[in-house]
Amino acid sequence: MFSSTIASILLCFSSLHVQPIASSVPVLVEVPPHSPWPWTLSQGSKWKHQPGDDKHFPPYFAFGASTAAYQIEGAWQEDGKGPSVWDTMTHEHPELVVDRANGDVAANSYHQFTDDIAALKEVGFGFYRFSISWSRILPEGDLSSLQQAGIDYYDKLIDSLLAEKIVPVVTMLHYDVPQYLQNLGGVASPLFVRYFEIYADTLFRHFGDRVQTWITHNEPYDFCVDGYGYGRNGPLVYAPGVGEYLCAHHVLLSHAAVYHLYNQKYRSKQSGSIGITLSGRFFYPVNNETGPDVIDRALNFQIGWFAHPLFSEKGGYPPIMVETIAEHSLLETRTMSRLPTMLPETKAFVKGTADFLGYNYYSSRLVKLDPREYNISSPPSIDKDTGLVYSVDPKWKRAKSDWLYVVPAGLRGVLNWFKEEYDNPVVLITENGYSDDGGLCDHERIEYYKLHLEQLLAAVNEDECHVVGHTSWSIIDNFEWLRGYSEKFGLYHVNFLSPNRERTPKLSAKFFQEVIRTGTIPKI
Ligand code: BGC
Repeated sequence: MFSSTIASILLCFSSLHVQPIASSVPVLVEVPPHSPWPWTLSQGSKWKHQPGDDKHFPPYFAFGASTAAYQIEGAWQEDGKGPSVWDTMTHEHPELVVDRANGDVAANSYHQFTDDIAALKEVGFGFYRFSISWSRILPEGDLSSLQQAGIDYYDKLIDSLLAEKIVPVVTMLHYDVPQYLQNLGGVASPLFVRYFEIYADTLFRHFGDRVQTWITHNEPYDFCVDGYGYGRNGPLVYAPGVGEYLCAHHVLLSHAAVYHLYNQKYRSKQSGSIGITLSGRFFYPVNNETGPDVIDRALNFQIGWFAHPLFSEKGGYPPIMVETIAEHSLLETRTMSRLPTMLPETKAFVKGTADFLGYNYYSSRLVKLDPREYNISSPPSIDKDTGLVYSVDPKWKRAKSDWLYVVPAGLRGVLNWFKEEYDNPVVLITENGYSDDGGLCDHERIEYYKLHLEQLLAAVNEDECHVVGHTSWSIIDNFEWLRGYSEKFGLYHVNFLSPNRERTPKLSAKFFQEVIRTGTIPKI
């Protein structure tokens, strides 16, 4: 089907109808000892893995697709939902988003979630990673503002997924902090930790009987650096070099608090898993003068910032961050480091509080040390603290997004770094995807996925990295933050010009249908 360009072009002009996968009765399969997966429902059991067969994903491996509430739901003020920082930002500063677009309607998934489920089912995905809009169920952050309509919406979504044997994987916070909490300081305030715990408690209480895979935060590096450091994304707080570190600190504390809460109140009854999703690139040396210590520095200032406190043996922030930021703070004549201190009891509270590591991979960079001296006369920032200069290899192909260079080997690089650094933790790839203009004949997206799945397969079967699943970003086209609707990541096209927001499969949906049916990577 994917063997020749002519066939693909013909397909592009045909109805592009994706054949539903013949339903099979899920069976129990043998799984690695620490796996977080609700295995009985995962489609990983549909194919047989032969020992020594490195062309197939292992039987426990699952494929899913992802979205986030603000990017798809719309209904921004229906049924008691309060504004999030993204509602506020897009309404008060429409000029910051391409085409002055916003998520007021988006893909209208609040009313059309069954279309999303139909798409997931048509491809054969075993799980769906979506996020809950905090301000839809607790617009003022805590229980005094509980909205039953919000609970009902997610109940329906979860029940409908389970009816189709699609496992719900739920992200608690994907950038859309309730505006009410932002008025109290948002994630930069220590108050946030307690509010997040109350929110998570509400989620476990209402949905934990059916949801067993939880992700507390999505990509804290990105929302802390852009939202509370440089102030170029919601909630637009400009406090570089200070705000991002405070935000990250409260992300870690709130994550750990939720993990402990789950252990104390819910784990014995609900037996689920709690993880966090981190983003980050892999890095390659620009030249021979750039040694492995520089690569390590880059990885630690990005992924290690969050992963070291949670997954390392010692806990706490990476020593390179602690030392460098303290040194820079001293040069700036501060009386304390801009990086909050983790006391031994805090380190112990945070360490080991994740059942799996969610990881979003899109791209990589070349890196070298910045030859310039640390300059105290310009504002501090995480980039100045990191002290590195990034670039790209001109041979790397670029997607529509100006930051998305195609570097498939970087995925295997990061997975092996996790394995070495954190004793081979359970990893779920929670996002991976490619942007374009949104056409149905998305050959470049297929090529991107093919190359990345090859690297993933090698990391799993050859390097024995403990990766349990892959999640495509995204099942449908959606609101791409500051890029509005100008860049598309979906396996399904959404007609944003039509009030019905029709979903139409792209060729990449067929590609994944084949991957899932065979448990291997089809030739294209
Ligand atoms: C985010 C998504 C975003 C995607 C593509 C990830 O960083 O979690 O919300 O749409 O990348 O930019």
